[in-house]
Amino acid sequence: PQKTPLTGKKVLVTAGGTRERIDPVRFITNDSSGKMGYAIAEEMQQRGATVTLISAPTKLTPPAGVSLIPVLTTEDLAEAVTKAFKQTDILVMAAAVADFKPVNTSNQKIKKSADNDQLTIKLIKTTDILKQVARLKQPGQITVGFAAETQNLLDNANQKLIAKQLDLLIANDVSKPGVGFNGDTNQVTILQPDQAPIKTTLADKHTIAKQVVDQISQRLQKEG
Ligand code: PMT
Repeated sequence: PQKTPLTGKKVLVTAGGTRERIDPVRFITNDSSGKMGYAIAEEMQQRGATVTLISAPTKLTPPAGVSLIPVLTTEDLAEAVTKAFKQTDILVMAAAVADFKPVNTSNQKIKKSADNDQLTIKLIKTTDILKQVARLKQPGQITVGFAAETQNLLDNANQKLIAKQLDLLIANDVSKPGVGFNGDTNQVTILQPDQAPIKTTLADKHTIAKQVVDQISQRLQKEG
């Protein structure tokens, strides 16, 4: 295969929606199908990178040649990412991570009761994985985040780019039809600290993955 700027690079991609248990039969999650992250993992692998995919539950088959680490919860994901990060050249966090989890997980199925029509589940913030990774980051390591927004896309995304000390942030306005969760298409704006935003058209997630990986590849060339 042809040599590319990604040849031999160690790439860590996360995908899917994390799961936070309420009781043995219920959990909190989100609409992530994993398609965006899997498409990025596949594209990276095809360009010669050594790819590890850390995946929350999805219905997808991992791309050939990619090593898979399955996880369930945000804390599992945090642990797996933190452990692998040291050996990683490029981290791409496409996973939709639960921001909150139940304070307590019940060992038994929570029952309905005749005298109470309401049930309150107390939630607590989960670990912010990208913030944690920012503290471990060494020169030369590239970190890429996603931002799933429903309003003020660019403002919110720019804040995440800075707060999480990212090299690239891929912002998707998930309130728009065909954008973000679940479907086969996406439309993103690629933000970088030192460059004008790049807005893609609405396209298949594999096409979007190529455009994202092109930008990562260009950064590598600039820095290398
Ligand atoms: O999986 P698909 O169905 O293909 O859908 C794709 C997608 C919509 C899930 C994807 O394009 C996407 O936007 N992924 C990120 C979703 C998300 O969690 O966004 P956020 O804006 O809440 O988080 C910002 C970034 O911080 C993300 O890179 C996220 O992985 C990371 N994060 C979030 C929370 C947390 N506790 N730790 C984190 O590191």
